[in-house]
Amino acid sequence: MKTWLITGGCGFIGSHLADRLVRAKDRAIVLDDLSSGRADNLPPGAEFVKGDIRDAALVGRLMREADGCFHLAAIASVARSNEDWAGTHAVNLTGTINIFDAAARARPDARKVRVVYASSAAVYGDCPDMPLVEAAPTKPLTAYGADKLGCELHGRVADYVHGVPNVGLRFFNVYGPRQDPASPYSGVIAIFAKAVLEGRTPRVLGDGKQIRDFIFVDNVVDALVAAMRHDELRCDVFNVCTGRSTSIEALARLLAEACGAPPKIDYGPARSGDIRESLGDPTRLRSALGVTAGVTVADGMRRTLEWMRGGAPAKA
Ligand code: NAD
Ligand code: UD1
Repeated sequence: MKTWLITGGCGFIGSHLADRLVRAKDRAIVLDDLSSGRADNLPPGAEFVKGDIRDAALVGRLMREADGCFHLAAIASVARSNEDWAGTHAVNLTGTINIFDAAARARPDARKVRVVYASSAAVYGDCPDMPLVEAAPTKPLTAYGADKLGCELHGRVADYVHGVPNVGLRFFNVYGPRQDPASPYSGVIAIFAKAVLEGRTPRVLGDGKQIRDFIFVDNVVDALVAAMRHDELRCDVFNVCTGRSTSIEALARLLAEACGAPPKIDYGPARSGDIRESLGDPTRLRSALGVTAGVTVADGMRRTLEWMRGGAPAKA
């Protein structure tokens, strides 16, 4: 039986990963400060430790028990990083360095703990070369994207200086059950779905022509598990995306249609730093990690709506 440390495991993506690892009969230790996650997202059998990834002593202790670490804890909202630059930086970059540092120190004389961490498509910023390949220039537009790029740079330091094998996954727009629909900082699919189910009109920020590559959470878990398993890969980054684009306007219409609601849309001002086009190239995800993100937006949306109708929590 392997032991995995999952930071941010009470959150949306982390809790799906915990499900998968517990189902595989592995031991999952979850470190989370519950700032946006919920302990009741965790499956029975996962071991929950409430704490902060910036707590070096605590992280060090947990890392010593782990065969590998999935580092997902972050303040995952681009909008919040605009509002609280220094505060989000402390978690998103300094917190990640703390994880690498603990992985380096956990077993001084043995193989270092492997770390698979969440980066983001936000590292590409407004790069115009769609679809985005991993070698495309990185020009983040927000503190969130800059900090995720910082994680990748420190991933290099972790490997080259400290011998910590690590892989960063550049998640595109992830959606699915348990993405908190009540938070204003949630992903657009969760926000629109909640609005439509409550009989409200979804509000598109900007002209709605911006595009995203929406990937269903189960396919993201496939990528996390594969990146941990492929230990011949180190100090590398991979897009985690589908290669299919959806505009935000089309998304609002699709959701209304799926709920039998009128296809009405409200428009509001665009977000500062909002990326116009984000579409990933999944070639390396397939060739190196063996993962194909096969769930379509229509199918994933149906599964998300089912979860919401079945009693998604009203409040975080
Ligand atoms: P989430 O907010 O649901 O999960 C993040 C978890 O981290 C939460 O449970 C939160 O309580 C925890 N956390 C935050 N700060 C912490 C701290 N200081 N110490 C311990 N725990 C802390 O977000 P998510 O959507 O599941 O995102 C998971 C990871 O994937 C994040 O790193 C995020 O930046 C990245 N990511 C997400 C998306 C997406 O579309 N959801 C896209 C790209 C990257
Ligand atoms: C998302 C992720 C971020 C990740 C990035 C990778 C969330 C909350 N954020 O950011 O963690 O790193 O993808 O590319 O999942 N919009 C509306 N109306 C709304 C809400 C949003 O029109 O009510 C628009 C936004 O302006 C944006 C698009 O929908 O153009 C997507 O927004 P959002 O879901 O917040 O994701 P990103 O900002 O792309």
